[in-house]
Amino acid sequence: MKEHLEQLKTQALEALEKAASNEELESLRIRLLGKKGELTAILKQMGKLPAEERPIMGQAANNVRAAIEQRLEQCKEKLQVAALNAKLASEALDVTVPGKPVRMGHRHPMNVSLEELKNIFIGMGFAVDEGNEIELSTYNFDRLNTDEGHPAREWTDTFYLDENSETLLRTHTSPMEPRIMESHELPIRYIVPGRCYRKDEVDATHSPMFHQMEGLVVDKNITFADLKGALHNMAVQLYGPGTVTRFRPHHFPFTEPSCEMDVQCHKCGGKGCPTCKGEGWIELLGAGVCNPLVLKASGIDPDKYSGWAFGMGLERAALQKFKIDDLRLIFENDVRFLEQFD
Ligand code: DAH
Repeated sequence: MKEHLEQLKTQALEALEKAASNEELESLRIRLLGKKGELTAILKQMGKLPAEERPIMGQAANNVRAAIEQRLEQCKEKLQVAALNAKLASEALDVTVPGKPVRMGHRHPMNVSLEELKNIFIGMGFAVDEGNEIELSTYNFDRLNTDEGHPAREWTDTFYLDENSETLLRTHTSPMEPRIMESHELPIRYIVPGRCYRKDEVDATHSPMFHQMEGLVVDKNITFADLKGALHNMAVQLYGPGTVTRFRPHHFPFTEPSCEMDVQCHKCGGKGCPTCKGEGWIELLGAGVCNPLVLKASGIDPDKYSGWAFGMGLERAALQKFKIDDLRLIFENDVRFLEQFD
């Protein structure tokens, strides 16, 4: 019987060693150690042994069982490691394979211009804010001293959102002036870029959706000279040293006095050419000294504080910068067009 056990052990360990899968190991386990297995078959013959030999044989059988179990575990682990290695090898990335080319996008000319303008004003100490495109008429008009009956309030010009003309798509970024005045600590120095809407037909120079940038300064002792200095400085940074600016009187209800700023055409030096449409000058923005009525309506004492503001169309700045002659190109987003501007 002892030889039987030894034989079983040697054969079992060899067979386990050769097993190539978990399934094979499991069927070996059943064949060797199961209830109807080979070890049990040998043990069944114990009864035939003399009583004094039984414990010795029992011990030997246990040792064989332990040896088989131990080898079984080792083989299982070995198979696991081999499986993992095979998986790693099959999933290995070949980093030398050339990648699929990714089509690179381009910054939109509007973003390039906006970024440049923002940087100019940030350099002069301005902070940047954003406003809502859906506005109350109160802020878009009333708080800007633009009363009922003013042509800008016409239904034909403005996208109202309710029957009572109380809400609308803002027609300019100026409603951010009273909004900033009433919610920010003085002194105030802000620019606010954003989308605006007017009922305009689409053509080479008009779009019902367009962008403006508002600027607002409120502090003690602010005068028209501050306005001229800052806006001239901006134009010089935008168009280069030697840029000539001029300020023409104009009327806006929320500034007094009001003006428009032109830059002398950088293409023809003021002689008149297609870029400036023969004018010699290019209109850039509207501006003015804050109307005391506007300051007062926003809770600022006009006897202690004064301010200046401007609003400029951003499309015009972008068209000029990139020498684009049709506004529609800006919004069509044809990649063949956009790819020209890195
Ligand atoms: N909101 C005016 C417009 O859309 C532009 C403007 C003019 C803004 C004068 C201002 C300003 O802040 O002071 O035509």
